[in-house]
Order: sequence, then structure tokens, then C-alpha cells
Amino acid sequence: MDKKFYITAPIFYANAKLHMGHAYSLVLSDILARYHRTIGEKTFFVSGADEHGDKIVRAAQKEGLGPQVFVNIKFDEFKELSGKLGISNDFFVRTSDKECHWPGAQKLWRALLEAGDVYKDAYKGLYCVGCEAFITEHELVDGKCPHHDTVPESISEENYFFKLSKYALEIRQLINERKLKITPHSKANEMIALIDEGLSDVSISRPEKEIPWGVPVPGDSSHFMYVWCDALSSYLSALGYGGEDDTNFREFWPANVQVIGKDIMRFHTLLWPALLLSAKLPLPQEIFVHGFITSGGKKMSKSIGNVLDPYEFINEYGLDALRYYLAREVVPTEDGDLTHERFKEIYNANLANGIGNLVSRTLKMAEQYFGGNIAGQRESVPPLRTRAVFETSETEIGGFNIPFIIQNNILPRYHTHMQGNEINKAADVVWELVSHLDHFITDYEPFKLIKTDKEMTGKVLWGVIEGILQITDMLIPLMPDTAQKIRELIKTEEKDGETTFITKTPAEPLFGRK
Ligand code: MSP
Repeated sequence: MDKKFYITAPIFYANAKLHMGHAYSLVLSDILARYHRTIGEKTFFVSGADEHGDKIVRAAQKEGLGPQVFVNIKFDEFKELSGKLGISNDFFVRTSDKECHWPGAQKLWRALLEAGDVYKDAYKGLYCVGCEAFITEHELVDGKCPHHDTVPESISEENYFFKLSKYALEIRQLINERKLKITPHSKANEMIALIDEGLSDVSISRPEKEIPWGVPVPGDSSHFMYVWCDALSSYLSALGYGGEDDTNFREFWPANVQVIGKDIMRFHTLLWPALLLSAKLPLPQEIFVHGFITSGGKKMSKSIGNVLDPYEFINEYGLDALRYYLAREVVPTEDGDLTHERFKEIYNANLANGIGNLVSRTLKMAEQYFGGNIAGQRESVPPLRTRAVFETSETEIGGFNIPFIIQNNILPRYHTHMQGNEINKAADVVWELVSHLDHFITDYEPFKLIKTDKEMTGKVLWGVIEGILQITDMLIPLMPDTAQKIRELIKTEEKDGETTFITKTPAEPLFGRK
């Protein structure tokens, strides 16, 4: 049987316009999904919209719309951005979807009930609408929620509670033994410390009279499921859990990787595993926690006016330039900064002058000197004569030819990084090869060599083109459009142990200088 890979992106609140931080969550998940597809794993990738809860109702009211009409509009916007970002998800889950989602959410609820983990109690305390979460006094900073910088609201109501405390030790142990893998490991330690402070049971419903919008609690329509319980269950309902056809659920659950941002870590590493344990369902293999995109070193905020709009970058530089930046210039487990100036600098250095220039000048020479038809073999590619290429692997280079480096060094390292979700390091490896090929051209100067030794020039260019094809393969998950464009410029024919590259010069640069 094929190896399966189920990856989820967080589902996005359908209340506001998505910004670069949201785009990051999506692109990161997409790169991993595409990578796992390229290595032949049967991949299912889900993203979607979180459409219930207080903040949606309020946002809809502000626009003078009913919540369903409002979330439909937001969902269309989300889908459009997702398409613009080249997100290859197999399914969009929507929590307002009565047919696909509600049966799963309600099935989960029933499983919690059956386990004896749900009880009714009075809740009196604070609620942050931004977080859609109850918040304790000691979490406040200057009386405000530290994530949203807003004063929480006082709530006093009778709710259903879930026995989170019952699972605290089990979760602690699972995290500790890495049976529930939280990446990066520092976040696992943070969660263990939190468990050690003590986990209280949590409210998992809201009265209908307070928020008339959500998944009805089975057997008690005067309550709606708490929005996080509802949202988390979408990872299951997206696979048909609770529905008529649960083939995907049986095939794909548990998730291999669940990608989330650091702000929603508690829900995913404490509440989510507890819900699953209670429902006697297997836990996800890995929760991958990424950092935040900051704008000029600051958290994006409307009041500062530094919110980064992904459309702006896509329109100015193209989709793959944005994907490149997010993939390589941000360390996934840390915060990463983005400014227009830095973006432009990176774009010119690594895309226009980097890979773009490498591809166009190589293919131009191939056309000019060989009519776009170069036959050759790996074994004939000459070795690199000068050293001083990469600081890291300099010693491995001298005396070996390009294919050696590709086969024995570059590709395995690329795969290791991709499989460890270190997409920035995987991208570094690709660009190591880009600079290696640049260096190879500088070393042999085919534009001069052609005057004295056409045969050797052919061998050199053949080697560079082969390297470009290796780069192209590695770019498929990272920059799928660029990979496809390059593929269309280089066709390959195999005959009698020789490979002929039939090349075309790009009509316009892959990445024009800015
Ligand atoms: N609806 C919840 C998630 C439910 S998952 C069962 C939610 N939605 S969100 O729209 O607020 O955030 C979606 C994702 O974007 C989250 O992973 C969040 O961490 C991420 N980001 C929001 N701002 C971000 C940055 N500035 N940088 C990077 N990611 C950020 O939370």
C-alpha cells in the first residue's frame, strides 16, 4: 500500500481579511504537502474556514449581514487568496457546512459524552473574543489579553464542561515520550511546564441565547459547541468522520503533520489531544508550530498600519517570488521579518540575478553555440578546477564533477530537510546548487571556451543543464510555476547511453530585475 500523508493547515477565522501571516501558514503547509506528493506518498491536504463563534457574529453584525451570508463572502475571499498562493489543498472544510462538518463535530461530542467526560456547570470568568477563549486573571497583562491587547469580557453562564484535567498526566507523558511530537521541541517543554502548573476543565459550549450561531450540542439545542471544539473537530470531519462516507477518515487519520502558528499551540497540544483521547481516537503524529511573520520587526497591526498584504507582493513580484521568500527567508520555527525593502533586495539577489540569470544565460549559450541541442553524459562532465565555492562543503568539491555533488550531497540533504519540515534549509540546499553552477560557469567560461574548444564547451553546458534540471525537480514543492516553466524550456531525450537536452531560450526573464 502507498504510504499516506495527511497534513492540515489551521482553519482560518472568517471574520477579517487575511494577511501575510495567514499566507505563511498556508504556504508552509502547501510546500510540505507538495513535497510529500512528489515523493509518491498518497497525500491529503486540508485547509478551510472557522466560521462560528462570537467574533464572526459581531463582524457580520457590523456589516449589517446575517452570519451565513457574511461567512460565505469571507469564504470566497479565502478561496481566492488560496488560489493566488497556489495552495494545492484537496479539500476545504467549513465549520458552517451542515452536511460535511456538523455530523463529525457532533459525533466527537457524543464520544466525549460516552466517555463520561462532559458535565454541566456554572461558568463565571473572563472571555477574550479575539482568542475565542476563556482567559484567567493571571494570564492578563495590564488587565488585557496579551495576544489581542483588549480587555476581556466578564461572562457568567451555565455551560457544558470537558474533563481536560483528567487527561493532563497522560498528555504530559505522551509529549515527554515524543509519542505526541511537538516541533520545535522547545514548545513541547513550554507545554509541559503549563501542564505542571495545573490544567482545569474547560467549558465546551456556549448558550444559544448568548451566541445564536454554531453547531448545536447533540441532545441540547439550547447550547452550541464551543468554537474551538467545533474547529478542532474539522480535522476529522474533513475526512468524512461522522458522515455517510468515512473512507478518507479510515485511510488518512491520524494526521501526519498538523501545521499551526504559535498563538494557537495550547488548543492543539493540550485540548486537541485530550478530546481525541477521550473519543478514543489516535493522536496526530506531529504538531508543527511555526513562528510569526513580523512587519518591520513589529507585530502586524491595523493601528500601526504595517499589515502586509500578500496580494501586493504577488502582483509586484509574482507568486513564486513570494513563496521563495516565505520558504527560504523565514526559519519556520522562529519569527521571520518581512519588509518591502528586504523583499526587493532578496528578489534581485537570489531570483533575478540568481536562478533567473543562471537559467537564461545557460539556455542562451546552448542555443547560440549548439542550436539548442546538446548531447552528453554525466561521466564526461569535467571536474570543477577551482575551489572556494561553498564554505561548508569545499573539500568535497575539488576533483569531483557536478553529478557527483548532486547525487551524493545535494539531493539527500534536500530530502532530509524537507522530511524534517525544515523548508528553509531545503531551499538553502537548492541555492547551494545554483551558486555551484554559477561557479562552474565562471570556472570554465564557456562564452570564451567556445572559441577554442567546442567539444569541451558542450560538456560544460551539458553539466550545467543537468544541474538546472536537478534544481527544477527540487523546486516543484517550493516554486511549482517556476519549476514548470523551466521544464518546458528543457526537453530530454535518451539514446544509446547519451542524454540530449533540447533547449529553448526563455522569451522573457523568469524573474525580471526590479
Ligand atoms: N481559527 C483559528 C484556528 C483553528 S484551527 C482548528 C485561528 N485562525 S486565524 O485566522 O486567526 O489564524 C490562522 C493561522 O494563521 C494560525 O495558524 C495563526 O497562527 C496564523 N497566523 C496569524 N497571524 C500570523 C502571523 N503574523 N504570522 C504567522 N502566522 C500567523 O487561529
